[in-house]
Amino acid sequence: MQLWTVNLKKPDWQAAPEAEAVCAALSAGELVAVPTETVYGLAADATNGRACARIFEAKGRPQFNPLISHVPSLDEARLHGHFDDPALQLAHAFWPGPLTLVVPRKETSPISDMATAGLETVALRVPNGPVMRFLAERTGRPLAAPSANLSGKISPTCAQDVIDDLGDALSFVVDAGPCDVGIESTIVGFEDGTPRLLRPGGISRDDIEGVLGLSLLAASPDMRPDAPAAPGMLASHYAPNASMILNAREASQDDALLSFGPEPIPGAERARAEFNLSPDGDLAEAAANLFRGMRTLDESGAGTILVQFIPSFGLGEAINDRLTRAAAPRP
Ligand code: TXA
Ligand code: MG
Repeated sequence: MQLWTVNLKKPDWQAAPEAEAVCAALSAGELVAVPTETVYGLAADATNGRACARIFEAKGRPQFNPLISHVPSLDEARLHGHFDDPALQLAHAFWPGPLTLVVPRKETSPISDMATAGLETVALRVPNGPVMRFLAERTGRPLAAPSANLSGKISPTCAQDVIDDLGDALSFVVDAGPCDVGIESTIVGFEDGTPRLLRPGGISRDDIEGVLGLSLLAASPDMRPDAPAAPGMLASHYAPNASMILNAREASQDDALLSFGPEPIPGAERARAEFNLSPDGDLAEAAANLFRGMRTLDESGAGTILVQFIPSFGLGEAINDRLTRAAAPRP
């Protein structure tokens, strides 16, 4: 595995010799870890079925869950999917950015069945992270990329997280520093002509509903990503080694504490380790710190991570979605 450290502040970062080598690796069907504004992605050529199969193998994904294809622009996205007016409105409002649109797939799209899991729909995103956009543009290929972590584990928000989890499977890791948003993109589906929130994420429900002028429906059970395996049981995901308890009211000395806001819960000073997601109670800051906080507390060796109450408005919906899955019964 080779490392390409990118300084995005340098105007000519795209001219580095590593850029050519990374594009060649992607074009040859190899796997490259690529930063985006949400999390680091495990990227491969979306038009190459064998390359996409390698993604599932490297992550140890139990089923062939469909992958998001990253493209450099809306024009490019329209080569792969049919966009109705609401989908176009969202693309114009939020791309490039942490929003994925699931739209009916165009028959002429070269995206492989391995990336779409054979569905009639395709998940497309124009990321704000410039490295992923640049690589998709330079290779001339949509890039399929799930989060670059082992299946079910905590998503990576810096290059070292990826190297720890997946280093051996990769040709390159591109390091552009920590991710700004820190949780995955919001996914909105348009399969049946009605916008549905398939996964809360880096853009809040309110912002999306504000643009559409209507309320997002919930995902129907057969459309929902990471659908519960059985009624009432949430699929375990984003799981640290420690068990997790949400909405803790009191800390103890054996447990680690994931706190939020300026008001400590009783006993916080006794906790074995503490990580405050946002001492000011800012939900965007908490989202950006969420996976780092979970990893840091896991490294403390605590058997249990207690989590202070976090409100569910704005980005709190996505934060609580991730925490609920992390706390769900493990397979
Ligand atoms: O921020 C993100 O979205 C990151 C970065 C790397 O872009 N990617 C990411 O990918 O989170 P992943 O594979 O971890 O999550 C993609 C989700 C999956 O839950 C999958 O089921 C859903 O997107 N998905 C993909 N295609 C779909 C489709 N056609 N219909 C419904 N859900 C789909
Ligand atoms: Mg993931």
